Amino acid sequence: MRRLLILVAFLTASFLGLTGVSAETPVSSATEECLGCHATIHPGIVESWKKSQHAAMTPAAAMAVQGLGRKISAENIPDELKNVSIGCAECHTLRAKEHKDTFDHNGQNIHMVVSPGDCATCHVQEAQQFDKNLMAHAYGNLVNNDLYQQLILSINGSPVSEKGKMVLKPANAATDADSCLYCHGTKLQITGTKSRDTDMGEMEFPILSGWPNQGVGRINLDDTRGSCAACHTRHDFSIEMARKPYTCKECHVGPDTPANKVYEASKHGNIFSTKQTEWNFKNVPWSIGKDFTAPTCAVCHISLLVDADGKVVSERTHEVKNRLPWRIFGLIYAHPQPKSADLTTIRNKDGLPLPTDFDGGFATTFLLNPQERTAAAQVMQASCQQCHAKSWVEGFWGRFLNTIEQTNATTLAGTQLMKDIWKRGLATGPDKGGNPFDEFSEKLWSDMWLFYANSVRFSSAMGGGGDFGVFADGRYHLMKTLKELEDWLEARKSVKKP
Ligand code: HEC
Ligand code: HEC
Ligand code: HEC
Ligand code: HEC
Ligand code: HEC
Ligand code: HEC
Ligand code: HEC
Ligand code: HEC
Repeated sequence: MRRLLILVAFLTASFLGLTGVSAETPVSSATEECLGCHATIHPGIVESWKKSQHAAMTPAAAMAVQGLGRKISAENIPDELKNVSIGCAECHTLRAKEHKDTFDHNGQNIHMVVSPGDCATCHVQEAQQFDKNLMAHAYGNLVNNDLYQQLILSINGSPVSEKGKMVLKPANAATDADSCLYCHGTKLQITGTKSRDTDMGEMEFPILSGWPNQGVGRINLDDTRGSCAACHTRHDFSIEMARKPYTCKECHVGPDTPANKVYEASKHGNIFSTKQTEWNFKNVPWSIGKDFTAPTCAVCHISLLVDADGKVVSERTHEVKNRLPWRIFGLIYAHPQPKSADLTTIRNKDGLPLPTDFDGGFATTFLLNPQERTAAAQVMQASCQQCHAKSWVEGFWGRFLNTIEQTNATTLAGTQLMKDIWKRGLATGPDKGGNPFDEFSEKLWSDMWLFYANSVRFSSAMGGGGDFGVFADGRYHLMKTLKELEDWLEARKSVKKP
């Protein structure tokens, strides 16, 4: 009965022309089978794939493209993949042995979670670079750090009352997946299989825990890191989408990392909003001035850019730290960019897993030295100079460095108050084995560096100043919170112990 239903579905779909993609690009017979059923079950998926570059071009044709416009970085692609479009089967059956989620699906061994390891079959350079990026390590950098575990607990934990005291119990996996790991990525696991009654009869599927998830640092079932679909949403996998700021906004929008808010309110963001319909987001390489007249996130952080003569201004990088001399996300102070993307081995002078110590010193052996910082700054500034005078860029950069110094100094003032509070036993700090993030005074302190000092720095780095550096989560709030912390301490000091 089931086989009959399958056959009817396949024949009907073929008859209606539902499986047909563009006549010029051949589709493998394995993919024809998938399309036969999925065109009716998941028309949303099939239609977006049909409009994608993967349906339109074979690897052989893509490899014939010479020069900067070539989009396949692999030199050797298995023969059976060369002359067909990249269809459902080409991605979902790749490297079957390496995937713990491989299962038999209507006669083919498929896996659901197509990983960076699979994409690397054709896009090896992008996959290798991405793996050296902080984003690919976002799961481990957060979850394998004892101190950040306590931050997670202080935010996601479930409060329960024990002997009249409020105690935080660790959050369950679903809460963490809905919260921090939405962006940082989950660790996928197979927890069993289950049979489902589908429109085409009963079928068996693996049960994935931690899924769905598209976090940048997701740990996949073939042990690779990250999700390319975080920026190249399935099944379009488009370069256009990744070049627009909306893609990055999904994760870079909160008060702790307000890049997108700052960008939207900046001159660059205004020009993008006004002019984007006249720009070309598909050309490769991307020509400054001709294709666009103001930068998006991708322009400054990732894209391959050429000038009017086609000369390379910036190489493309999926390792975004190549263009970043500093880490302006305070941990707890802004600091030079880490050398390696795996931050789990970093220890400050007090042995804590942080790139800075509480007195404002840097864990220098793990961070870029001044020469390396200059080199990274030059890569970032190469694009600015295609649209701005050198004096404009230098003036901007000088102010940015000043902002790093000033916000670090204000964070230090707050941290000195916090250390006094811990020393007096008015809160239990890390020296006494306490969670440094869970008490009221500690929350004031973390608001200072996590929200307000960060916001001021993001505003300086990506807006050249503006509201997010002042009244919208900026200096005003940084100063107000410092005063609150000071007043809190003074008030507690004046309470005489009975
Ligand atoms: C005989 C019809 C048929 C064929 C052929 C077929 N599928 Fe499916 N597929 C289904 C049905 C039915 C479902 C379940 C839909 C539902 O959940 O109701 C499904 C589900 C899936 C899922 C989701 C699994 C899950 O856990 O929910 C993936 C991924 C998938 N198919 C990929 C493929 C790929 C890739 C191919 C070709 C290699 C393919 N399918 C061939 C019918 C088919
Ligand atoms: C953080 C966002 C982000 C992630 C994650 C990401 N990309 Fe990209 N990708 C981009 C941007 C932005 C561009 C456009 C670059 C340009 O304009 O030169 C791009 C471009 C590409 C291109 C087109 C290259 C060309 O020659 O035109 C390919 C292929 C690609 N990415 C593959 C991948 C693969 C494979 C992964 C996963 C390993 C991945 N990307 C993950 C942002 C991302
Ligand atoms: C370029 C590789 C690629 C191609 C081609 C491709 N997929 Fe996928 N597919 C992916 C990725 C990546 C995901 C996202 C998996 C994740 O990250 O969890 C995915 C997810 C899915 C899912 C689960 C999505 C959901 O929202 O539930 C289904 C079902 C699926 N694909 C079916 C198909 C079908 C049918 C086709 C052919 C029309 C196809 N895929 C073509 C890479 C591909
Ligand atoms: C079997 C080879 C193959 C695999 C596997 C593959 N791709 Fe592609 N990819 C291609 C080809 C071919 C093109 C089109 C090249 C061209 O236009 O010159 C392409 C183009 C792209 C582009 C640029 C699209 C655009 O709008 O210009 C992106 C982004 C991309 N792939 C991402 C991915 C991601 C992410 C995966 C894994 C989920 C993946 N690819 C898997 C072969 C592959
Ligand atoms: C909306 C997306 C998003 C969510 C949700 C999110 N983060 Fe993040 N997180 C980011 C981004 C983006 C960065 C990097 C910012 C930067 O480098 O400028 C980051 C960086 C971090 C870092 C620095 C890690 C390191 O060592 O590099 C920590 C710690 C952190 N987040 C903690 C958390 C905690 C705890 C939660 C949940 C309570 C959480 N995040 C939820 C997006 C998110
Ligand atoms: C799905 C969520 C997500 C998306 C989408 C995303 N990012 Fe990220 N990004 C993160 C997280 C999480 C981190 C921090 C990782 C860590 O600290 O371990 C991060 C870190 C960064 C960093 C800091 C890297 C460093 O070395 O200091 C930059 C720059 C960045 N992202 C740029 C972008 C750009 C540009 C885009 C869009 C093209 C983008 N991101 C899209 C989640 C995301
Ligand atoms: C005009 C160029 C430009 C644009 C456009 C731009 N950025 Fe930036 N970005 C910078 C500079 C400069 C820095 C600071 C450099 C450093 O940290 O060394 C920075 C820093 C960052 C950081 C902080 C990394 C860290 O050190 O913690 C993140 C995250 C980021 N940008 C994401 C984005 C996102 C998302 C967008 C789009 C909404 C965007 N940027 C738009 C130039 C730009
Ligand atoms: C593709 C061209 C282009 C690139 C690349 C570019 N800018 Fe701009 N930028 C502009 C234009 C156009 C304006 C608007 C000038 C005006 O106000 O008339 C602008 C405005 C600015 C402003 C003023 C911000 C404000 O809100 O008043 C700053 C600061 C700035 N750019 C810095 C940079 C830096 C730093 C870089 C490189 C990291 C850069 N720009 C890259 C085109 C560009």
